[in-house]
Amino acid sequence: MPLRAKIDELKLPNMAATNGTEKPKTGIKIIIVGAGFGGLTAAIEAKRQGHDPVIYEAFPELKVLGDIISFGPNAGRIFYRWNDGEITRKMRALSIDLSSYGFNIHKYDTGEIVVNQKTPMKDEKAPVFNGHRGELHEIVFNYAKEIGVPIHLGHRVENYWEDEKSAGILLEDGTRVEADVVVGSDGVRSKARTLVLGYEDKPKSSGYAVWRAWFSNKDMLADPETAHFCNNGDTFNGWIGPDVHFLFSTIKNGSDCCWVLTHRDEADIAESWSFPGHLKDVYKVLEGWDPMCKKIVSKTPEEKLVDWKLVYRDPLPTWVSGYGKAPGHGRICLLGDSAHPFLPTSAQGATQALEDGVALAILLRKAGKSNIRGALRAFQEVRYERVGKVQKTGETTRDMWHKTDWAKVKDNPESIQLPREDWIFGFDQEKYTEENGDDIIQKVSAAA
Ligand SMILES: Cc1cc2nc3c(=O)[nH]c(=O)nc-3n(C[C@H](O)[C@H](O)[C@H](O)COP(=O)(O)OP(=O)(O)OC[C@H]3O[C@@H](n4cnc5c(N)ncnc54)[C@H](O)[C@@H]3O)c2cc1C
Ligand SMILES: *[C@@H]1O[C@H](CO)[C@@H](O)[C@H](O)[C@H]1NC(C)=O
Repeated sequence: MPLRAKIDELKLPNMAATNGTEKPKTGIKIIIVGAGFGGLTAAIEAKRQGHDPVIYEAFPELKVLGDIISFGPNAGRIFYRWNDGEITRKMRALSIDLSSYGFNIHKYDTGEIVVNQKTPMKDEKAPVFNGHRGELHEIVFNYAKEIGVPIHLGHRVENYWEDEKSAGILLEDGTRVEADVVVGSDGVRSKARTLVLGYEDKPKSSGYAVWRAWFSNKDMLADPETAHFCNNGDTFNGWIGPDVHFLFSTIKNGSDCCWVLTHRDEADIAESWSFPGHLKDVYKVLEGWDPMCKKIVSKTPEEKLVDWKLVYRDPLPTWVSGYGKAPGHGRICLLGDSAHPFLPTSAQGATQALEDGVALAILLRKAGKSNIRGALRAFQEVRYERVGKVQKTGETTRDMWHKTDWAKVKDNPESIQLPREDWIFGFDQEKYTEENGDDIIQKVSAAA
């Protein structure tokens, strides 16, 4: 029986449902800190499972920030369940369409196309999205509001607290808010992380940085050598070289251009998204490369160039208060980037934040208001190993590209393609958690 039918069968006849999948009320109040993809998904899924979520976000207003972001089919499967495919329909219109173009992988110096990686058949129920982070985020943000999630913008959370019976947050203005659970989905520079762990987890330099840019196709179109990237629909090209790779795509029927260039950079700086970048530094790294790369980069308005140092963290020992060596009472958890930042080469950071939200909401329903501690521990158990394995793929893909043996690739061009692994893409977090959640809750609730 399809899962959807199973869920419908479980519905009680007298309950008010917003979109045919909402469950009976659990009475569990959840404070969610941060309205990124992680926090928003946790809230939307909490609604679907019958909880009472509320979001506090530091940003005073929604801004279309960032540039390219990827969602794998394991995220598309989650989005598809929201409002019967309505959200995925909206996202598709803003995302890259490579159904006819595929992905051209070039050798960095000669520029020759070593392989054209075909785009897999579209799966309506598990679509893939690559688009502008801010534009896709807006769709999810508006959907959360539409289904009645209270989102308090301009509210920076200053502290967290918990006792045996409840947990809550302290806002900048001194307001104290109480709930049953607090979810710290406050991103890579998480404050919740320090509070859950009981110590500060310092980020490490990954040894790499990324220049990234998103801009309109105007100057690309004006140059006959680059116009073809923009006047035939969407494109995706990658140049792979020693310790450097350069990915370039055109999006929304070729109207927007976006590139990312990953290179070695040992600079040890505080974490941040956006430092202004300089084109002359990019040209230096591209010396000796296919001249097309420099040509593309030269169409970038310099103010659109971002220099983003990639920081890294070792996996945290725990994501949940009062679990393992962490202090506390088991009512506060980390979710998304605050628990596990990803390298962009995994292309799974946001997707894994989504999976977190799905698992957490189901486990809270299964464990119930009287066993929050069991639910949060089970959340970590359900997610921890998988997240760690997916995180590693960010390094393996990068290293595969940066240490390419071109003689071997000649014999086996497919070996350089972007990996599409079924254990990552074929995974259905909802189904898995529905099937295994009870057992895992029982196991962790019995433990001290
Ligand atoms: C501005 C921005 C731009 C980004 N651009 C890209 C991009 O171009 N490409 C890409 O792949 N990824 C980008 N990311 C990261 C990407 O969104 C995440 O890796 C992924 O979606 C996981 O999301 P998350 O919800 O865990 O964390 P995030 O998306 O980082 O969201 C965390 C949220 O918590 C809020 N917050 C932090 N501290 C507090 C506090 N004390 N009180 C209240 N709220 C707080 C932040 O304002 C933020 O909105 C960006 C993130 C941000 C915040
Ligand atoms: C895409 O752009 C081309 C021109 O580059 C145009 O001819 C075509 O109509 C556009 N298609 C859509 C669906 O907008």
